Amino acid sequence: MGSPLFEAAKKNASLAYKLDQSGQTQQAVKYYVSAAEQLQKLINFTDDPNMKNLYYHKAMEYILRVKEIRGIIEPSESPTPSSSSTTQASDEISDAISSVIVREKPNVKWEDVAGMEEAKRALREAVILPMSRPDLFKGARRPWKGILMYGPPGCGKTYLCKAVASEVDSTFFSVSAANLISKWLGESEKLVNELYERAVEEAPSIIFFDEIDALAGTRGGSSEGEAMRRVKTQLLQAVEGFATGDELLVTVGATNTPWDIDAAMRRRFERRVYVTLPERDAREVMFSIHTKGIKMGADVDFSSLAEITGGYTAADIALLCRESLMQPIRELDAEGALTDMSVQVRAPNAADFHNAMMHIRPSVAPSELARYDEWCDKFGG
Ligand SMILES: Nc1ncnc2c1ncn2[C@@H]1O[C@H](COP(=O)(O)OP(=O)(O)OP(=O)(O)O)[C@@H](O)[C@H]1O
Ligand SMILES: [Mg+2]
Repeated sequence: MGSPLFEAAKKNASLAYKLDQSGQTQQAVKYYVSAAEQLQKLINFTDDPNMKNLYYHKAMEYILRVKEIRGIIEPSESPTPSSSSTTQASDEISDAISSVIVREKPNVKWEDVAGMEEAKRALREAVILPMSRPDLFKGARRPWKGILMYGPPGCGKTYLCKAVASEVDSTFFSVSAANLISKWLGESEKLVNELYERAVEEAPSIIFFDEIDALAGTRGGSSEGEAMRRVKTQLLQAVEGFATGDELLVTVGATNTPWDIDAAMRRRFERRVYVTLPERDAREVMFSIHTKGIKMGADVDFSSLAEITGGYTAADIALLCRESLMQPIRELDAEGALTDMSVQVRAPNAADFHNAMMHIRPSVAPSELARYDEWCDKFGG
């Protein structure tokens, strides 16, 4: 809260609202759109699920208002023939699709992923093996079409997916469901369709749908709910049936609120993978991954650090490492010696890690974890 982006969104929204109220609806559109775009960025910047939710609903509200205004204004006032506006829309859509294709290999290698054995195996079977031996994965042994990764924030869902993408020679589409809806509501069905068409053309393809729960939240019969329901239906059909031939096309959905996902969606994501807190051994490996290339003090022992960081997520460990590595730099800076090239930076020591642990605490509470375990017992696999 209070970030410049948030302030800007607030300002745009209140301007839009004022214009809208005073009947200058067309002028209001621009400000609504900016506010919605800024909120969308905020969604990506915050880790707090409640804030994400709040930003998302606000953005949605503004987009809906824009659609409403356009719905009222365009038919009577815009003389543009509908054919040309359709071409323009589909150009925009194809640009949007191009922007979600990750052309560069992500720089996360398979061996940079500590632990997560179960999740790694599932993705190997679903994606990596079928792509390298398509002849084996046919008929009754056809690969999974939909995989759901679920679990608390910061445990490696996105990270693992990047590693998969860098491992296999496939086209990788990375889509945020929340972005899709807030930006493309109204057109998002079309977008889903074209996305899958493109994925078939460029097969083998992996479509990574982050925050898939954003599509599942259909409560009440509001117009917002209605539009979302249509997008969801479209997506579910696409997951199931788009690749009719032998094209390899897999959709990987990720969520940290699996309980928001309804039965229809669960059924399409037939393979479900629980991604949770790292075990002791995985934590040990994470310490070495996240300090790679930096010489450690003699008293730094990753094994004992792994021992005392039970309850930390992968993201917490990554943060802990960065914080500890920063400590020697900070000291030099405080002494004013950082710019002196002849001064050596001391190696991070055990005390740096212990100090960092004082203020970097596990970000997932045991009670929250219990809820995931429960869901896993019921629906997981
Ligand atoms: N298996 C792993 N080995 C090493 N580092 C990891 C691993 N998993 C996650 N990390 C670290 O934790 C960070 C956060 O992971 P990631 O973004 O994948 O979490 P997530 O499960 O997608 O969270 P969210 O639900 O919030 O999207 C990664 O950027 C990486 O630095
Ligand atoms: Mg993620």
